[in-house]
Amino acid sequence: MVAVEKARIKDVGQMHQLINYFADKGIMLSRPLSEIYENIRDYFVVRQGERVIACAALHVAWSDLAEIKSLAVAEENQTEGLGGQLVTACLNEARELGIPTVFCLTYKPGFFEKFGFSQVDKMELPRKVWTECYHCSKFPNCDEVALVCHLEVGDCNA
Ligand SMILES: CC(C)(COP(=O)(O)OP(=O)(O)OC[C@H]1O[C@@H](n2cnc3c(N)ncnc32)[C@H](O)[C@@H]1OP(=O)(O)O)[C@@H](O)C(=O)NCCC(=O)NCCS
Repeated sequence: MVAVEKARIKDVGQMHQLINYFADKGIMLSRPLSEIYENIRDYFVVRQGERVIACAALHVAWSDLAEIKSLAVAEENQTEGLGGQLVTACLNEARELGIPTVFCLTYKPGFFEKFGFSQVDKMELPRKVWTECYHCSKFPNCDEVALVCHLEVGDCNA
């Protein structure tokens, strides 16, 4: 039985390996260990025993905007619904925080569209979100697709 849980410090080494395994294949951005430690509270993981088999982060960008980052499911555990559960956990957290828009930059737009995201022109995203792009080897020729998901947040606490 697997569940989505908040990440702990002891997960960071395995999260780093998982993310950078796919980054080395050119399908997602690499993350240095230091950045994962600094942003540990953003991350969700799925563990199988002591092994981290999937992770994702929700990073708050501004009062009305958050980003899903570093979504990775180990190859042998893909197509089991884990990626979807992680996206749902991130969207639920954004709702709980009262953040109405969640975006992502990805090479897998079809996956995110399954969860209510729709494609937008990257230039529609506020300039603030490009801060980390300056560190990307592809900058300024970003070939990722931008998608946004609009949430009902209201004034509720749930
Ligand atoms: C993309 C990824 C996160 C999907 O995770 P997953 O656990 O395999 O996906 P799920 O099993 O939760 O799939 C949920 C739904 O999305 C669909 N889906 C999965 N990957 C897809 C893709 N690349 N394109 C379109 N749809 C996809 C599934 O068919 C499923 O649809 P269904 O509910 O109609 O059956 C995973 O393949 C992965 O980690 N890939 C490598 C890293 C990466 O590309 N990360 C995302 C980019 S930032």
